[in-house]
Amino acid sequence: MVKRLELPVGFRWGVSTASYQVEGAVAEDGRGRSIWDEFVVRPGAVKDGHTGAVACDHYHRYREDVALMRELGLDGYRFSVAWPRVVPGGSGAVNSAGLDFYERLVDELLAAGITPLPTLFHWDLPQELEEGGGWLARDTAYRFAEYTEAVVGRLGDRVPAWITLNEPFVHMVYGYALGIHAPGRAMMLDALPAAHHQLLGHGLAAEVLRGHGRQVLIANNLTPVRPSSQDPADVAAAEAYDALHNRLFLDPLLLGRYPDLGAFGVETEGFVREGDLAVISGSGLDGLGVNYYNPTLISAPVDEGLPFTDVPIEGVERTAFGWPVVPDGLRELLVGLRERYGAALPPVTITENGCSVADEVGPDGAVDDRFRIDYLAGHVEAVARAVAEGVDVRGYYTWSLMDNFEWAEGYHQRFGLVHVDFETQRRTPKASYAWYRELISAHRAC
Ligand code: BGC
Repeated sequence: MVKRLELPVGFRWGVSTASYQVEGAVAEDGRGRSIWDEFVVRPGAVKDGHTGAVACDHYHRYREDVALMRELGLDGYRFSVAWPRVVPGGSGAVNSAGLDFYERLVDELLAAGITPLPTLFHWDLPQELEEGGGWLARDTAYRFAEYTEAVVGRLGDRVPAWITLNEPFVHMVYGYALGIHAPGRAMMLDALPAAHHQLLGHGLAAEVLRGHGRQVLIANNLTPVRPSSQDPADVAAAEAYDALHNRLFLDPLLLGRYPDLGAFGVETEGFVREGDLAVISGSGLDGLGVNYYNPTLISAPVDEGLPFTDVPIEGVERTAFGWPVVPDGLRELLVGLRERYGAALPPVTITENGCSVADEVGPDGAVDDRFRIDYLAGHVEAVARAVAEGVDVRGYYTWSLMDNFEWAEGYHQRFGLVHVDFETQRRTPKASYAWYRELISAHRAC
């Protein structure tokens, strides 16, 4: 039995995926190379040398996948559009065959009564743009706006709301500061222009979307940051981390200014040009996408490097990835956002939330992922508590519809409601799939 929660009328239920993680078909119908195609073949970059070359073969099996979504009773499907399918060289010629795929997908979704919620960039940058500097280059922001025009020009008539970027924080930190993700640069704080140029790209793309009368969202990875003690050094370190992870990406969007990054000894003057912040905040947001996985506990730095230390959260369960399970962190995050940004905070949609579990298909053919059910139930309840405390939350999209290519972890971390056998491509709905369907129908029935 699922617990029925007090959620606003019209609350929307969905699932999320991303192009490189599910599509496969990396060399079909004129798709260009992406930074992930290059990164995955670097020795040691991805666990066991896994790649997204086939992934879930969603490119060919999207009908089967949409049927699974319809069966769930979803309101929305958040997927991402692969820029190198649409503009293979990153700029210039548009590949109509690439857009055809997304048109087929969108039409299939609409026929199933599911609203498409596309993300325009979920980390698979065209390789040619990387060769010109990737997001370190200001020019990439302008190319992103052109690509947005190509996609929205084709699909905008059927798709009301669009997410510009997925998690610019994670892309900057993992891709440019630490080199754990593509493009594999390890520049530490010199990666900062990659944040600004992504935000500028968001602002320019938002103008394009507005021109088509479409709604604009962005999906940020956000975390409530807790100091490990009330010692002023721990509190200051937590504030510094919060500025980097959360405020660096929300203050410019919602307040039109960057937070103070003095603790990092960095200035934004070098790459922020006059008028940029007006572009970033100017179009406004119709909704803020929140991707939440866990809170962060921070102590004062132990060495001379960064102005904080990330410390483990003790006494809680952990996912297969080792991430702490703290459902109330989602309520804390949402209430904190409302307190910080007040009327400037647009309506929120949870655009990702989920957990990895070492799922296996049992001898009876079932996948009993009780851990995931408890994780999701706890987080949906946390959303309801945030709503009760006055936060305007409009929907919840779980990560993910199905097991998929989990970036540097390859196929080792399974986040899906549906199990995927990557040898056979067989899809097996897990216990959490049945649970989510029941949850949705219980809320629909009222
Ligand atoms: C990303 C997804 C990823 C998930 C789990 C998010 O940071 O947007 O692409 O699979 O977390 O790691």
